[in-house]
Amino acid sequence: MSKAIQAIRGMNDLLPDTLALWQRIEQAAVAVLAAYGYREIRFPILEKTELYKRSIGEVTDIVEKEMYTFEDRNGDSLTLRPEGTAGCVRAGIENGLLYNQVQRLWYAGPMFRHERPQKGRYRQFHQIGVEAFGIATPDLDAELILLSARLWKQLGIRGLELQINSLGTPAARANYRRVLVDYLRAHDDRLDDDSRRRLDMNPLRVLDSKNPQMQDVIAQAPNLQEHLDDESRAHFESLCRLLDGAGIGYQVNPRLVRGLDYYTRTVFEWVTSELGAQGTICAGGRYDGLVEQLGGQATPAAGFALGLERLAELAAHQQVAGANLAPQVYVAPLGDGAIVQQATRLAETLRDAGWRVELHCGGGSLKSQLKRADKSGARHALILGENELAAGVVNVKPLRSEDAQQPVRFADLPAFLANAAH
Ligand code: HAM
Repeated sequence: MSKAIQAIRGMNDLLPDTLALWQRIEQAAVAVLAAYGYREIRFPILEKTELYKRSIGEVTDIVEKEMYTFEDRNGDSLTLRPEGTAGCVRAGIENGLLYNQVQRLWYAGPMFRHERPQKGRYRQFHQIGVEAFGIATPDLDAELILLSARLWKQLGIRGLELQINSLGTPAARANYRRVLVDYLRAHDDRLDDDSRRRLDMNPLRVLDSKNPQMQDVIAQAPNLQEHLDDESRAHFESLCRLLDGAGIGYQVNPRLVRGLDYYTRTVFEWVTSELGAQGTICAGGRYDGLVEQLGGQATPAAGFALGLERLAELAAHQQVAGANLAPQVYVAPLGDGAIVQQATRLAETLRDAGWRVELHCGGGSLKSQLKRADKSGARHALILGENELAAGVVNVKPLRSEDAQQPVRFADLPAFLANAAH
């Protein structure tokens, strides 16, 4: 026997038992998104590398060291998407969805980052992303936060904390950047190598450093909030009032800078302390400059993405029930020929009536079929042997109660099962 091939490190198989919870989350998300007027968009997993360099930013962890980039057979540099915003904007521009319009869009699917795998951090992971275009006012920022809060509520997820911040306009940020660089240079001896390297290219990310030796110097750094332009400050205050009015609790975190360069003004994250180091479940913000930066007409925009692995992990931790798509009925034909024919017909009739039905295939004894019926999760087994066939009935055996089994005429089955379900 040759050696079995294994999956790539950090890329997980998602098995049926796990996916019941994912399906519950996805169903709830689709319903909540529809309740806010968002529509689904799908775009390729592979894009030109240039798209991510121009949007996420050349000096970010993602672009510098985490992208799965390769040359295809034509020699073009392509990259597996590390996130969805860039592709969504590219597709929006290319298909004329963004110019002079309001668009509320969402997408879901795998993303790829060559990070060091650990709990909650994978190399292939899944996001549900939400992007809204054409609205510059903070009512949109509030809507995105309300939408996400409604999803947590719908799922019964508790204890997520909302952190918000404003990064201001690019001009205000450039101003702040100068002040910050001066400060950090004055404390050069307390920076680690990574931060020293970032100083010239992306000094705001120094604030994001998790290095314990640098926390003091970070805590005393000049505050971005104090360097905001007036309009960004008003935008932020207005968002805070909207959240207050909606009864959404939040914490202003002036160190929240995000790892992607396209953000302007509002940024936010929903975090939990229940999952260890990878506690950010959902994150996003406003990116008013990105559409123009990628070659479209200037269009304000904002959005967020939630990490499905992390949300599912938290949901499991809080004992949220998964979707139940198990069969309700298990049909057990005892014999072949006419019996299998009639069992197949019955199964189809029940499916016509909306039941989820598993039909036993491959024959076998009553005992072995009932064992499988039990494992399937069905509530009832329908036993059909020669005697039943001759009498025009099936024996209905309750699998989840001690009730006795009883014969039911073929024609009466849908009504009988509907009654038994209550
Ligand atoms: P992000 O913060 O890079 O933002 O990712 C959003 C979420 O995806 C994270 O909060 C986390 O839950 C999940 N995530 C990220 N990396 C991993 C990983 N390696 N393993 C597991 N989960 C992960 C974005 O991607 C932006 N596109 C969000 C956005 C949309 N901003 C505006 N619109």
